[in-house]
Amino acid sequence: MRLMVRFLPLLLTLLFAGDVPAADATGRILGDPKAVEACLNCHDLPAVTSVLHSAHMSKSDSRTGVESEGCQSCHGDSALHVARIRDAGIRPPPGRVFKGPRASPVEVLNEACAGCHQGGTALHWQGSAHAAVDVACVSCHTSHPVRDAVLAKATQAPVCFTCHANRRADALKPSHHPVLEGRMTCGDCHNPHGSVGPNLLRAATVNDTCLNCHDEKRGPFLWDHAPVQEDCTICHTPHGSVQATLLKQRPPYLCQDCHDSSLHNSQPFSGANLPGGALPARQLVLRGCLNCHSAVHGSNHPSGVRLSR
Ligand code: HEC
Ligand code: HEC
Ligand code: HEC
Ligand code: HEC
Ligand code: HEC
Ligand code: HEC
Ligand code: HEC
Ligand code: HEC
Ligand code: HEC
Ligand code: HEC
Repeated sequence: MRLMVRFLPLLLTLLFAGDVPAADATGRILGDPKAVEACLNCHDLPAVTSVLHSAHMSKSDSRTGVESEGCQSCHGDSALHVARIRDAGIRPPPGRVFKGPRASPVEVLNEACAGCHQGGTALHWQGSAHAAVDVACVSCHTSHPVRDAVLAKATQAPVCFTCHANRRADALKPSHHPVLEGRMTCGDCHNPHGSVGPNLLRAATVNDTCLNCHDEKRGPFLWDHAPVQEDCTICHTPHGSVQATLLKQRPPYLCQDCHDSSLHNSQPFSGANLPGGALPARQLVLRGCLNCHSAVHGSNHPSGVRLSR
């Protein structure tokens, strides 16, 4: 019942919408909705007016549409919202409300931003993993604060963590890329707007993404190691690991996923072979297989000793 009372005036406003022209002489319109000043008449809190200092409100940049559309370039047709409300009625919302309980549908929000931002890094937005699950541009971006957190190295990851909580857990593991340290961002490997590669990766493949920074692992080597050429994530996890150097498993187990353990006699025959035993096997102690095969990514060793330095 209370709800009905609350929305009755809105219903009436809608019913008599024709009664409220965009600009009329009766004084019902508080200024031209296309003028920024019209909105500032009522919205003078810093949380709103901070937008005046953003790139979007630059009057010298005609692409912002500030001069022609004012705040409506993002908030859409707000003529009814600007109009004076009579008889304690409810003010109809502006054309687009970006956040809060009365937020407009995602398509309506995204079309506002995409209307001006189509090319560039947002080229692959349509059909991308985020677009497909109705993530809005403003799920990551803010427009009013002077600094949009997602654009800065130090503050980007926490924005992603709001939805990808497991990534925060990974980033806190002993071995991790220096994302929380502010030396890298998720965006160094991913393009959140969409990409031609898998998993929103910046490059076409996992390896091309990694080799952007770890070029020394590219080769070609005299002695290649097949899985390294194929996919770094066969052995490494990109986000964080409890093993050293972002490994998925520790050697020798990592290696024995593929290499027959009988070949190198790496099976413990007795407790004596194990670390701490009387005759610990070199395949099992310390760095395991890496004691000898230290150039696991590929080697140019002239003697041909396999994957050694
Ligand atoms: C006459 C005063 C007035 C003017 C002019 C005005 N607003 Fe508002 N606006 C309000 C009030 C009051 C609210 C809070 C509405 C409510 O809580 O019901 C509001 C709320 C909003 C909201 C949040 C809506 C929501 O549901 O969360 C946005 C966005 C907004 N206004 C944008 C604008 C824009 C853009 C303009 C200029 C085109 C503008 N306003 C002009 C009074 C005004
Ligand atoms: C009327 C056109 C227009 C609309 C609508 C628009 N933008 Fe922009 N946007 C611009 C222009 C112009 C710039 C400044 C030049 C540039 O960086 O390309 C800009 C800059 C940006 C930047 C970079 C800001 C910075 O500080 O470097 C981001 C992020 C952005 N817009 C996101 C959005 C989002 C999200 C929306 C929707 C809520 C949106 N834009 C709506 C035109 C628009
Ligand atoms: C999942 C989070 C996310 C979503 C959703 C998102 N962005 Fe971004 N956006 C980013 C990040 C992160 C950057 C910084 C990219 C970088 O550092 O290279 C960025 C940068 C930008 C920039 C700055 C210039 C540029 O291209 O690098 C613009 C403009 C922009 N986004 C617009 C949009 C628009 C429009 C949408 C919706 C169609 C959108 N974004 C959706 C995360 C997002
Ligand atoms: C680039 C697009 C863009 C422009 C231009 C823009 N806004 Fe917004 N507005 C947003 C987004 C996105 C939000 C959601 C909060 C945020 O991202 O900061 C928002 C939120 C708001 C709110 C609700 C605030 C709250 O905390 O609930 C009001 C009111 C508002 N805007 C008014 C205005 C006024 C007035 C102007 C012009 C002076 C304006 N906006 C210009 C995109 C824009
Ligand atoms: C060093 C490069 C790199 C960085 C930095 C990085 N990622 Fe990834 N991410 C990858 C790769 C490679 C994959 C796909 C293969 C995999 O998961 O093993 C992936 C997959 C994902 C996936 C999809 C698969 C899944 O597990 O859900 C999400 C979500 C994701 N990353 C989010 C993030 C977030 C959020 C950040 C920042 C905190 C981030 N990534 C930082 C490389 C990176
Ligand atoms: C509003 C929630 C939200 C935010 C914020 C968000 N994401 Fe996502 N993201 C999703 C959803 C939902 C999916 C699709 C389901 C999944 O894979 O978890 C997704 C998928 C992904 C994927 C996997 C794509 C694939 O093909 O498997 C990556 C990578 C990713 N996001 C990275 C990021 C990064 C980087 C940021 C911060 C810049 C970010 N996300 C911010 C909700 C979000
Ligand atoms: C944007 C550059 C960049 C990209 C792309 C990148 N890395 Fe890194 N990587 C780094 C940095 C920086 C470090 C930390 C080096 C340091 O601390 O000295 C690092 C460290 C590592 C380490 C060692 C971690 C440790 O705990 O010692 C491994 C393994 C690694 N990266 C693998 C990968 C893989 C696999 C990919 C692709 C999925 C990748 N990297 C993509 C920059 C990058
Ligand atoms: C067959 C498993 C395997 C594959 C595949 C693999 N790595 Fe490694 N990687 C290792 C092991 C084992 C270590 C630890 C080496 C050590 O401790 O000496 C390591 C260490 C690293 C390190 C940190 C130490 C260093 O050598 O700089 C980086 C960076 C790295 N790998 C990047 C990559 C990249 C990039 C790829 C893909 C091109 C890749 N790795 C593929 C097993 C692998
Ligand atoms: C995903 C499977 C896989 C994993 C995991 C793996 N390897 Fe390999 N490894 C291969 C393949 C495939 C070859 C090529 C075999 C061939 O050419 O007959 C190879 C070849 C080798 C060779 C011989 C190189 C040469 O030049 O003939 C050595 C030594 C080697 N691996 C050591 C390791 C070590 C040490 C690890 C653990 C850090 C490891 N491998 C992990 C698949 C793997
Ligand atoms: C004590 C040093 C040492 C350790 C430890 C070691 N290897 Fe080797 N490995 C060698 C040498 C030397 C060769 C070259 C033998 C040859 O070319 O005849 C070799 C060859 C190989 C080859 C090529 C086999 C072939 O028949 O061509 C593979 C695969 C291999 N090692 C895997 C491993 C794995 C997996 C481990 C850990 C369980 C391991 N190695 C531990 C010294 C070692």
